[in-house]
Amino acid sequence: MRSRRRSVERSVPSTDLIYSIDDLRVLARRRLPRPIFDYLEGGADAEWSLARNVDAFADYQIVPDVLTDVSSIQTATTIFGQPAAWPLMLSATGLTRMFHGSAEPAVARAAAAQGIPYCLSTMGTTRLEDLAAAVPVPMLFQIYVFKDRGLTREFVSRCREAGYAGLCLTVDTPIAGNRLRDRRSGLSLPPRLTPRSLLDFALHPGWSIPALTGARFDLANVSHRTEALAANPMSLFDFIGRQFDPGLTWRDVEWLASEWNGPLAIKGLMTPEDATRAIRSGASGVIISNHGGRQLDGSPAPIDQVAAVRDALGDGPDVICEGGVRRGSDIVKALALGATACSIGRPYLYGLAAAGEAGVARSLKLLRDEFERTLALAGITGLPTLARRHIRHKPQSYAARQ
Ligand code: GLV
Repeated sequence: MRSRRRSVERSVPSTDLIYSIDDLRVLARRRLPRPIFDYLEGGADAEWSLARNVDAFADYQIVPDVLTDVSSIQTATTIFGQPAAWPLMLSATGLTRMFHGSAEPAVARAAAAQGIPYCLSTMGTTRLEDLAAAVPVPMLFQIYVFKDRGLTREFVSRCREAGYAGLCLTVDTPIAGNRLRDRRSGLSLPPRLTPRSLLDFALHPGWSIPALTGARFDLANVSHRTEALAANPMSLFDFIGRQFDPGLTWRDVEWLASEWNGPLAIKGLMTPEDATRAIRSGASGVIISNHGGRQLDGSPAPIDQVAAVRDALGDGPDVICEGGVRRGSDIVKALALGATACSIGRPYLYGLAAAGEAGVARSLKLLRDEFERTLALAGITGLPTLARRHIRHKPQSYAARQ
């Protein structure tokens, strides 16, 4: 079986021939069975926000300077108190082992190699302690305030003990979004083999053989508290319905901020008013996000909210733009509007699904090269000189004005 597995791994195409995040997406689509790819790729309802998150970047133009000496460009920054070699972080993503058996440790190692922060998900498939032991650089942990506050409190002390540098509290999931692709495929954990899905799994041995022979799927951080989940495959929607608390308010943010007493980001807000409220409630920064278009369909694209949120918060707090980033130039645009950094989910998951850690590394290298190339071509010598004058909202075309 071992040699069979090696030959399956060898059949993964070389990542050297990948020139864009979209190339990685094509590889991921080829390697993953349909229900798994759909979980990675899909959004809620009509997937309007999913599409808009990406498309909105095209509405902005980068306005260059010239003759500024871009032979050396300064890209280092800090994100929630952590040094970052360039302004990107890796978002928390649920069920990561489903995309590749190397799972969260591979992603965290690739992020560490690039000198940028990684955020582990509560719904991840590696225990937070195991990840901290495997990749000993400070990381962030994405947390929910569960109905069972004891579970949240338990996470706070586990994160503190394991040396996590900060928490990201997700606030856009009071209830589960309506993800039609997952409902149609009956996505469960571990994936359920129905007659319909069986053929698809059989047609993707590069995924299915390692999945059947590797470590078992597990919501590793919560399964000890949810017997049903540990014992049986169950629908993700049932878990969210049972554990997520639709009664959360800003008072719970204040409670979490005082329990944790460290860097805390509120993830999943959209407006300057909520961003201001987040900082007043004890957060050190905000992540503008609509959960990758997977929760409220019809909510605005994060990039369209960056300037207003930055203007409301002033220079101090971190403002992260999460959603729709597919190119390094997108990061330049977000920073010009006032973001501290961007955060990505799908782009690195395409890489993970396509080729494990090497694929994640490739996705990050692509984005970093594009980011630095864009800065150089725009005559921007480093983050301190990148300003709002470098960006403008695309003027309506002559045809559109008629
Ligand atoms: C988890 O947060 C997901 O969007 O699947």
